[in-house]
Amino acid sequence: MAGSLQGKVALVTGASSGIGRASALAFCREGAKVVAADVDVEGGEEAAEGIREAGGEAVFVRTDVSRPGDVKALVDQAVGTYGRLDCAHNNAGIEGVMGTPTADQAEEDWDRVIGINLKGVWLCMKYEIPQMLEAGGGAIVNTASVAGLVGFEGICHYVASKHGVVGLTRTAALEYARQGIRVNAVCPGVIWTPMVDRATGGSAEAQEQFTGMEPVGRMGTPEEVAETVVWLCSDAASFVTGVPMPVDGGLVAR
Ligand SMILES: NC(=O)c1ccc[n+]([C@@H]2O[C@H](COP(=O)([O-])OP(=O)(O)OC[C@H]3O[C@@H](n4cnc5c(N)ncnc54)[C@H](O)[C@@H]3O)[C@@H](O)[C@H]2O)c1
Repeated sequence: MAGSLQGKVALVTGASSGIGRASALAFCREGAKVVAADVDVEGGEEAAEGIREAGGEAVFVRTDVSRPGDVKALVDQAVGTYGRLDCAHNNAGIEGVMGTPTADQAEEDWDRVIGINLKGVWLCMKYEIPQMLEAGGGAIVNTASVAGLVGFEGICHYVASKHGVVGLTRTAALEYARQGIRVNAVCPGVIWTPMVDRATGGSAEAQEQFTGMEPVGRMGTPEEVAETVVWLCSDAASFVTGVPMPVDGGLVAR
């Protein structure tokens, strides 16, 4: 049976690790050709190789999503390689320094988190959308977070960046709805990835605290987020746009 994205071309940022790596593989399983982007070259080449070993097509393009020139070159290379762009998962992100109250937030860390998590998503859409218009339509999924829906203490830069991604997603969805481009966001809860490893510092107690936020009593997997991303990009979600969708084990239902 053909996959739900057979013959499509999908771009994934942050594809070297965690959620992005899982979504790159899920796009491949659904029949899409994958353009994987990240600053981590080793992980990105590994992710693309994994897709080719699974029988799919993939290229890796080293990209810093906070740099306009890099993002333009990424989209140019995607279209140059596969001829079009149909789907994008704008997912690259960092957690920044955690545990700092708003008044003590360092400006440099604020700028870095906003530059990658928020400006990076806008830059990706800025260059992806014209190519999707050229292709006659498309689907974009931005990775926000439950931190894009509610506040969390000690990470004002991250929370502001993810609320910004939700606002950008809604705005772009309205702007391009009549031109066949759907724009949605996923809002993951606590997902077991290297980001959470760093945030918990590998401490069992901190991991328990993170798990304790989850009504389902466990962390989510990157694959559980990836399934939502490919569904949102597929025709099965043809009437879904402008939605920040929690994939969070019930975290924001509290
Ligand atoms: N893990 C979670 O619990 C969780 C929860 C909510 C949202 N998120 C979001 O999911 C996304 C993916 O996170 P993850 O958990 O898979 O983390 P991760 O650290 O495993 O992966 C993030 C990837 O982004 C890449 N990256 C970082 N800066 C970049 C840049 N400037 N340009 C290009 N690539 C860059 C990293 O190299 C890495 O491969 C992030 O946007 C994160 O904020 C994660």
